[in-house]
Amino acid sequence: MVYFSSVTRNTDRFIAKLPVRSIRLPLRTSEPPPRIEEPFVLAVPSYGRPGGAGSVPPQVVKFLNDAPSRAHLKGVIGAGNTNFGPLFCVAAEKVAAKCQVPLLYKFELMGTDEDVEKVTQGLEEFWPAFTKPRE
Ligand SMILES: Cc1cc2nc3c(=O)[nH]c(=O)nc-3n(C[C@H](O)[C@H](O)[C@H](O)COP(=O)(O)O)c2cc1C
Repeated sequence: MVYFSSVTRNTDRFIAKLPVRSIRLPLRTSEPPPRIEEPFVLAVPSYGRPGGAGSVPPQVVKFLNDAPSRAHLKGVIGAGNTNFGPLFCVAAEKVAAKCQVPLLYKFELMGTDEDVEKVTQGLEEFWPAFTKPRE
């Protein structure tokens, strides 16, 4: 998994509970994002400006603007806060629509134990389509 998480680290705490390999995108937009060369799922929190503009963190935009990495994006998981009502996890919705990949799941803040279980199980079912069977 590839994910962005700001200094509040909600998403980081959620990802840490998953039994997956993960890479956190750099906090600073000035730092170069990693180049990903294998199938991955992106977890992205929403950061809308007042009125709902923006919302996809610039660090994530910069990462996805790299076509070779983007080519390996297979699905998106949204992080957010339900206080934002219809804009809950809007960044993940935008990325999924723009990159034409499924929005696999949405969770709030650092997620619950139930979210961890569902995402763990969901990823187990999702991955085999993109990975070679073991010899
Ligand atoms: C300025 C600001 C704008 C936000 N906008 C949204 C939003 O539009 N939709 C949403 O679901 N959550 C929104 N959130 C909530 C964050 O996505 C949520 O707190 C998330 O867990 C942050 O993840 P992180 O701590 O890993 O960065 C916003 C939070 C802040 C501080």
